[in-house]
Amino acid sequence: MADYMIAPSILSADFARLGEEVDNVLKSGTDIVHFDVMDNHYVPNLTIGPLVCEALRKHGVTAPIDVHLMVKPVDRIVPDFAAAGATYITFHPEASDHVDRTLQLIKAEGCKAGLVFNPATPLDYLKYVIDKVDMILLMSVNPGFGGQSFIPSALDKLREARKLIDASGRDIRLEIDGGVKVDNIREIAAAGADTFVSGSGIFGKGQDSDPNRYDGIVKQMRDELAKA
Ligand code: DX5
Ligand code: ZN
Repeated sequence: MADYMIAPSILSADFARLGEEVDNVLKSGTDIVHFDVMDNHYVPNLTIGPLVCEALRKHGVTAPIDVHLMVKPVDRIVPDFAAAGATYITFHPEASDHVDRTLQLIKAEGCKAGLVFNPATPLDYLKYVIDKVDMILLMSVNPGFGGQSFIPSALDKLREARKLIDASGRDIRLEIDGGVKVDNIREIAAAGADTFVSGSGIFGKGQDSDPNRYDGIVKQMRDELAKA
């Protein structure tokens, strides 16, 4: 079976008790913390920055943190996230004037680098930089908000990206972000994804005080992936 990773998006967590939310969702068998950074400029919403990433590390989170930058410009904030403990830093190529330079910067800061493709963005940006990429993130919604529906054309794009990765012979994660739920995760895996962001699909179950509240939903996702 492929080495699947589930990446809960903390955008849909209860921010008033974020440390506890992240502890509980990791304990339920998820692998990597998806951290959505929005700037009210590149996307029409505003979320969290390096201070919150650093706070999660200080809280004791040791799992990889997958920082998804929806910001423009990109480069200014990269060193701050590296210092704050980011593992992956991914960005939208449209938001950087010099995509190759930004990839180099992320790697020079000691992080893994990735490119993010909006639903209408072709994969062409990869052609000359795939050797500098550790993750390809395909958006299956338009970025900016949790809780949107999966755009089906992302499945064809996953197949296309999987071919590019296999042809490159490199170790590159293929991540999907937006509208991933128990009922479609299997089909998404079959199309080639190996890393699954899910925000409302995991956290959208209402907040209560049960520390095991995410165990059920994560197990259902794992069971679906086992069948892919
Ligand atoms: C959207 C973000 C996503 C978001 C996904 O711009 O990049 O990571 O949290 O949320 P769901 O899983 O609810 O579609
Ligand atoms: Zn995201």
